[in-house]
Amino acid sequence: MASKLRTEIDDALRFIRTRTSASPSIGIILGTGLGALVQEIERETVIDYGDIPHFPVSTVESHHGKLIFGTLAGKNVVAMQGRFHFYEGYSMKQITFPVRVMKFLGVETLLISNAAGALNPAFVRGDIMLMADHINLLGDNPLIGPNDDTLGPRFPDMSEPYSNELLERAQVVAQALNIKVQKGVYVAMQGPSLETRSEYRFLRTIGADAVGMSTVPEDIVAVQMGMKVFGVSIITDECFPDTLKPITLEEVIAVANKAEPKMTAIMKEVVRGM
Ligand code: HPA
Repeated sequence: MASKLRTEIDDALRFIRTRTSASPSIGIILGTGLGALVQEIERETVIDYGDIPHFPVSTVESHHGKLIFGTLAGKNVVAMQGRFHFYEGYSMKQITFPVRVMKFLGVETLLISNAAGALNPAFVRGDIMLMADHINLLGDNPLIGPNDDTLGPRFPDMSEPYSNELLERAQVVAQALNIKVQKGVYVAMQGPSLETRSEYRFLRTIGADAVGMSTVPEDIVAVQMGMKVFGVSIITDECFPDTLKPITLEEVIAVANKAEPKMTAIMKEVVRGM
């Protein structure tokens, strides 16, 4: 008998198939203040999250949640306009449900972006960090509970959570575009409060270069399902304990918006080369 999760995925797929026969090979999930890439997609079909069985919906901004099918740099893609965070109260299973659906639509590569704070003192606001690895401090994992072996292994290997091949390709692309990129380790915190100076000191000590509140759940599920992941953090603020200054969401979004064209250009060229 199919698991509850598998049945829910099949329900969602059956509905999506009444709207489109698209078979995207690339999935895209964009972070806070980083939606511009979605505007560059030549749209074929747009589906409201609220129409898709079992899809999580945001109660405050349900009209923003859209699954967008189309082409980007000539490739078939599906993008989430609107993503879900653990701090909003969604479960890890809800946050990652769209990733599971993407896999069954044909997605083999997932591109994820996020806004993050710098822990590495060599980073500055506005930098782009290619994600090489992560540390999960969310205190939860989307794979907890009974495992459906038709979806992926019980104990997925995490030795390459972000594709080395895509990371190397992005470095080549960035150099050709004359865009400086950093490479580093992302640590995911629950939030929604930002971290204290002592927490930043701790996060730096355990090996993180940037801190944020997303991406890790989606990555874990994507890896479990055998997808390749390319992750990019936009460094929106500096989390250096000895010189810490207060920041606001408005500042984070302003920096994200400013640095966004660099990220969009890199992602587009990575897609083109796929
Ligand atoms: N912590 C600190 N700064 C940040 C974060 C975070 O989670 N996300 C973006 N900037």
